[in-house]
Amino acid sequence: MKKNKKSILDHWNEKNVESMYDKNLLNAEINLIKKHIPAGSKILDAGCGEGEGTYAYSSIKDVKIHAVDFSDTRLKKASLKLKGKKNVTLKKIDFLNKYELDKDYDIIISQRFIINIPKWQLQKQVLLGFMNMLKNGGQLIMLEGSENGADDLNKFRKIYNLNPIPIQWHNYFLNDTKLINFMKENKFRLINTSGLGAYFLLTRGIRPIFDKKLNWDCHFNKIASSEKLADFLKIGAQCSRLRLWIFQK
Ligand SMILES: C[S@@+](CC[C@H](N)C(=O)[O-])C[C@H]1O[C@@H](n2cnc3c(N)ncnc32)[C@H](O)[C@@H]1O
Repeated sequence: MKKNKKSILDHWNEKNVESMYDKNLLNAEINLIKKHIPAGSKILDAGCGEGEGTYAYSSIKDVKIHAVDFSDTRLKKASLKLKGKKNVTLKKIDFLNKYELDKDYDIIISQRFIINIPKWQLQKQVLLGFMNMLKNGGQLIMLEGSENGADDLNKFRKIYNLNPIPIQWHNYFLNDTKLINFMKENKFRLINTSGLGAYFLLTRGIRPIFDKKLNWDCHFNKIASSEKLADFLKIGAQCSRLRLWIFQK
């Protein structure tokens, strides 16, 4: 049985938990998102966690970032990571409660954040809040769990008798069609979509056929995260448990 929202906060308040253990994946996510952030943007990094992404995005010329999270532990880690970054302000906010933030962001980043919101109904509520905070022409950059991508990958694994990869108890992956339709109904234009299919297929599909032992830092995974390799293989979003969607207001 899935745990409730309070437990999701407890989870993120645990000191030893990390937002992403697979650092090759984290770097690939950051590289993918960073390409889409123009210099000079005012950014909201929603659910910033330890600030790993925030740190990278803050080096883009003339950006200003509000990095927001509901967990004291995450914010403490983020403040250490972002020490001395004058263009970043950290804020404690629970997106499921009433909150006050600006309404003129150029970019809102949701990097594996929405998947922590339990149930589609609440995820829609949070998405509507994001829409409200973007300028006209502003963009919501989502790099989020995709049910469809997870299913693709599991279908591939099945061919080689590998068990399906479960979705963690505190995650609620998005259905691609439902998300895109909902955003369209609310007058948000999908301007870009892609994924990290090559990385997922190689590291979660191919490698485990030969080696069942998880090792996020292995040389194979490093090679698999190469952008040149992804460009060559052109797998795009197929088999990608995490997908990029960019919506414009
Ligand atoms: C998987 S982590 C992602 C962190 C960061 N974006 C990254 O990519 O590394 C999800 C983050 O969302 C935060 N979070 C979950 N629910 C939240 C809520 N209702 N309001 C604000 N932050 C929340 C968690 O505390 C956690 O830091």
